[in-house]
Amino acid sequence: MAATEQTFDSLLTEDRAFPPPAEFAARANANDASIYARADADPEAYWADWSRRLHWFQPWDRVLDWQPPYAKWFVGGKLNAAYNCLDRHVEAGRGSRTALLWEGEPGDTRAYTYSDLHREVGRAANALKQMGVEKGDRVAIYLPMIPEAAIAMLACARIGAAHSVVFGGFSAESLRDRIRDAQAKVLITGDGGYRRGGVVPLKRAADEAVDEEGGCPSIQHVLVVRRHGAEGETVGGAQMKEGRDLWWHDVVEGASPDCPAEAMDSEDLLYILYTSGTTGKPKGIMHTTGGYLTQCLATTNLVFDLKDDDVYWCTADVGWVTGHSYIVYGPLANGATVLMYEGAPDAPDRGRFWKIVQDYGVTIFYTAPTAIRAFMKWGTEWPAKYDLSTLRLLGTVGEPINPEAWIWYHLNIGGGRCPIVDTWWQTETGAMMITPLPGITETVPGSATTPFPGIRADILSLKGECIPTGGGFLAIRRPWPSMLRGIWGDPQRFVDTYWSKWSGETVGSGEDGQPGESVYFPGDGAKRDERGYFWVIGRIDDVLNVAGHRIGTMEVESALVDHPSVAEAAVVGKAHELKGQAVAAFVTLKEGTEATEALKQELTEHVVRKIGAIARPDAILFAGDLPKTRSGKIMRRLLKDIAEGRALGDTTTLADPGVVARLKDEYEARGEG
Ligand code: PRX
Repeated sequence: MAATEQTFDSLLTEDRAFPPPAEFAARANANDASIYARADADPEAYWADWSRRLHWFQPWDRVLDWQPPYAKWFVGGKLNAAYNCLDRHVEAGRGSRTALLWEGEPGDTRAYTYSDLHREVGRAANALKQMGVEKGDRVAIYLPMIPEAAIAMLACARIGAAHSVVFGGFSAESLRDRIRDAQAKVLITGDGGYRRGGVVPLKRAADEAVDEEGGCPSIQHVLVVRRHGAEGETVGGAQMKEGRDLWWHDVVEGASPDCPAEAMDSEDLLYILYTSGTTGKPKGIMHTTGGYLTQCLATTNLVFDLKDDDVYWCTADVGWVTGHSYIVYGPLANGATVLMYEGAPDAPDRGRFWKIVQDYGVTIFYTAPTAIRAFMKWGTEWPAKYDLSTLRLLGTVGEPINPEAWIWYHLNIGGGRCPIVDTWWQTETGAMMITPLPGITETVPGSATTPFPGIRADILSLKGECIPTGGGFLAIRRPWPSMLRGIWGDPQRFVDTYWSKWSGETVGSGEDGQPGESVYFPGDGAKRDERGYFWVIGRIDDVLNVAGHRIGTMEVESALVDHPSVAEAAVVGKAHELKGQAVAAFVTLKEGTEATEALKQELTEHVVRKIGAIARPDAILFAGDLPKTRSGKIMRRLLKDIAEGRALGDTTTLADPGVVARLKDEYEARGEG
């Protein structure tokens, strides 16, 4: 953890603190700090109160059934997520409120009221039913950032089919793996999405996923949204396949808008979302209905302080958990007005985001530190050109935010007046876990501050002892409503990955831990300061955080060794000014293969083809040999030292210490350090 120690040392010197502005606090949804003590004294009662804001077809009879590590929330209750996001507001006479404002990258716009969205979701739900989708099935969604992405998700929820959204930047092969794992019956895609002036040929990738290399036998239909081409044409030469492929506008637009919402059990699967872990195979994280929606509702309401006149914009893609919880489920469950933008922040120029804020009067803006660092680099002249005075609250998520970026964001986007909520959470936690409440919490740049009311986070040592101040492993000590319920098709991996870091006997010596307590391990290193604030430092497992996106080193290694020229590969994260981390790969070639620049390029493209552009290595180094322990384990720590240009750490356990010294020389000679 050498790099992260350095990071923390610089954070420790951070002594600027920002109390909530008085006017903000006076109107805030949460402005009474006693909420923490109340929630902590009886978390089940706290969450139960939130759940009662939802509409239940059948009320639950028990808040929590906790058989570690298996939790059931709101036991016996029946509800529907789409009903709660749409019908509930329409029935309360709020159907004419704007639900969704959308802008495409080329500048085309659409707006949906809650009634409009309700109707469109009903149509899409009926179309899915006509295509044979039933309650309990899975539907894969591989779409650009267009309203149909949210509509498709809610349509699945309406009929009780679980969606599995796959980020449009993933390759055909990644899509195929995810469809196969979830056994999806239908794939919803588009003919192409706009990105930085170009068109991403999604249908072509979808065809490659479904047709090639054994394909996806579970897929019965591919439903295609026309985003780009004229009728009959699709992007990149992809054609519609008779019988299998259907145009969205043919089957959805003609369908009846009346589709009753299925009464789902609180614990029925709402969705699967794949995320990277420490093996080559992504994990299908499972989220269920009642608890997930409750925590999305509560966190969106309090952390974003949502009001009727807010225009809320989260810049994430719906392909990530942030898009699930904070574009779709959380904001819509709150009846918010949500803005969605299809394209890149620098198309047609670097002022695009700020123009959108000005044009729509955005009041709440939620983005990632990697984006903020890019804005910093582009310069203050871009935001300065636009009127950003409607903004009243800013948020960040996805990775630690460096204090300089925090301050820049505060001054240049927030005009020095907007609180910033730095929200720590994960795909697995489903919703925010450690975050300020903007009307209560004094924020400190770089710290996600304290756990959300009802959440019990801690810092533990390897042995499971509580570390009141100082660094260790982040731990969650109590079940929470939106927690993952498992890994699709791999129950053992769920237990091993998240619930086996500390055995019951060792955890219990903490603050108030009970012997035998089950503790969730998120995979992050963190520290707690004197005032009890949490500073999340980053992953301590073999997972990289590249521009806020999780990438497993093993996934990239598998992609590399899949190439016929590669004998062995080791991938590490390398600190990167904008992306936080970048992928650095050390590759040994098969005998007789020549190490050329062209091959390096080919390997880079190979990774992109196997996984997607988000995994593109920044640096590939051909190595004669990789540093290994005597038992044959690759020493990634040393490779990281090399990639980041540091003095080598302890090499005494290596089988051949010369290997790593040679590698360091080679790396530096090539000027890659
Ligand atoms: O390492 C933490 C980092 O992102 C990881 C979760 O990634 P993912 O499941 O893709 O979800 C990202 C969006 C919720 C965490 O384990 N992370 C997320 N938010 C923060 C963060 N690190 C520091 N500060 C944050 N606010």
